[in-house]
Amino acid sequence: MQAIEINDVKKYYGSTKAVDGVSFSIGQGEVFGMLGPNGAGKTTTTEIIEGLRLPDSGSVSVLGLDLAGHKKQIKNRIGVQLQTTALYPRLTVREVLDLFSTFFNGEKRTTDQLIELVNLQEKQDTLSKDLSGGQRQRLSVALALINKPEIVFFDEPTTGLDPQARRSMWDTIREIQKSGTTVFLTTHYMEEAQTLCDRVAVVDAGKIIALGTPNSLINQHFQETVIEFNIIGNSPQVGTFAKIKGITKPGVREDGHVTLYSTDITSSLGGLTDMAKSGTFQFDALNVRRATLEDVFLKLTGKHIRE
Ligand SMILES: Nc1ncnc2c1ncn2[C@@H]1O[C@H](COP(=O)(O)OP(=O)(O)OP(=O)(O)O)[C@@H](O)[C@H]1O
Ligand SMILES: [Mg+2]
Repeated sequence: MQAIEINDVKKYYGSTKAVDGVSFSIGQGEVFGMLGPNGAGKTTTTEIIEGLRLPDSGSVSVLGLDLAGHKKQIKNRIGVQLQTTALYPRLTVREVLDLFSTFFNGEKRTTDQLIELVNLQEKQDTLSKDLSGGQRQRLSVALALINKPEIVFFDEPTTGLDPQARRSMWDTIREIQKSGTTVFLTTHYMEEAQTLCDRVAVVDAGKIIALGTPNSLINQHFQETVIEFNIIGNSPQVGTFAKIKGITKPGVREDGHVTLYSTDITSSLGGLTDMAKSGTFQFDALNVRRATLEDVFLKLTGKHIRE
């Protein structure tokens, strides 16, 4: 049995094709991510699977049950991260968890277990209004886990968090996966998708444009190595870099940041330094790296995920 299976799901708002024929299935215990820019249709897809929005067409099954006929049963077996803003500001972390716990019947995690799972031990007696953004996010994650859900949904769990809080949230999500829970998440952050997700659906304008493990997506679309650097002074024309041996697709940003894709890294680096020596341009902060999901997205759509 798949944890989630959706087939040719569509949801249009007037002329906006928010979800335009999306199909995928997610195995139990998997961390599955939808990665895409603003307006790609991530939230709409997520809320359709959660049973919060009705699709125009297509089928959705969750934990082997057809969503259309089993909304209530499914609801008891999934966890949805709530919006974090209004979490009873005058209650402590412990009190918020105790309160929400009373909303559920059946098997539950204890407040102590939840506090430990999301690593809020030191803040358990702090009023929720006095938590940092990252701590509040973790409290809302804990709320989604009270009923020992078989699947949890996180819609952009780390948007707005600083890098340290983001990493801490990643640890929490890994812990959740270790406990056997299937995780469905959406994100703008390619690094997040790459480190957390077993499989990723890259979405743009309501359609899946690539689907697979992060490594398979990168290998499938990239034989090239990425060279990046900053130009000091005036940028030469993009065409200048196209002349370097091995370079397939040069790009120069307005701020002088250059991205080159090379199929022959030794020759390309040689050609680049030769040009710099001859005075064509000057550069610093040279970085040679493997392609990432961001590069895959750029190649497939011609745009950066964050614009
Ligand atoms: N209730 C609605 N009424 C009208 N249009 C909507 C509605 N919900 C979503 N849309 C439109 O559908 C498209 C997809 O929106 P959605 O919220 O699913 O994107 P998203 O990928 O979650 O974006 P973000 O990264 O900004 O959260 C957008 O163009 C949005 O404006
Ligand atoms: Mg969204």
